[in-house]
Amino acid sequence: MEKFNIAIDGPAGAGKSTIARLVAGALGFVYVDTGAMYRAVTWKILREGLQAEQISDMIALTGRMDIRLVPGSDGQMVFVDGKDVTGMIRLAEVTGNVSRIASIAEIRNILTAKQQEMAQSKGIVMDGRDIGSHVLPDAEVKVFLTASVSVRAQRRFKEICDSQPDITLERLERDIAERDRMDEQREASPLVKAPDAVLLDTTDMTIPQVVDRILELCKLQVGGG
Ligand code: DC
Repeated sequence: MEKFNIAIDGPAGAGKSTIARLVAGALGFVYVDTGAMYRAVTWKILREGLQAEQISDMIALTGRMDIRLVPGSDGQMVFVDGKDVTGMIRLAEVTGNVSRIASIAEIRNILTAKQQEMAQSKGIVMDGRDIGSHVLPDAEVKVFLTASVSVRAQRRFKEICDSQPDITLERLERDIAERDRMDEQREASPLVKAPDAVLLDTTDMTIPQVVDRILELCKLQVGGG
């Protein structure tokens, strides 16, 4: 089967990373989690102690960073300058700051160039916010995944309630709604459905149903899957 690229976009908690990983596995493709790249940059900026106004230092730091995404047995691992940051990029401090960092256009340009390079050899399933609309406008298959805020908060709650026992569902709903707002309203490549992306509302769908639907789309659009 000839290789092609799949772009999966959508808001936080819509199930993008789970779905993208399963679709990649089914096709023998490589999964690229671009949110992890924005998180890695945010982690490094926080670790270096850069303040909110030190934008040019943040951009320079991003330009120097070596970010690697490596498939691991437990999902994708993330390395920054050789250091394993897989767990650290999911900490609440990073999650709370990543939308602010992801709104800096020059940082987006640096990461977009890296993502385009990764996709050059095809056979990529890339998830994010601006993949179909901006990073890979020529992706053969484009999907925009969404779900209601309350379902997305419930899914996130199940994922993190063991590691963060103080978290409440109400707090998660508020955080998710706020992150949606920041991702949708930023000037540089906001979260938006590409006109040619297929909209999938996963509120009432199971994970296998969503995966099957995307594999069907692949067959329809490129004869793959
Ligand atoms: O998918 P995630 O929650 O790990 O993404 C973390 C943040 O990165 C999220 O607030 C939006 C941002 N992001 C982005 O702006 N563009 C992307 N392509 C991927 C993520």
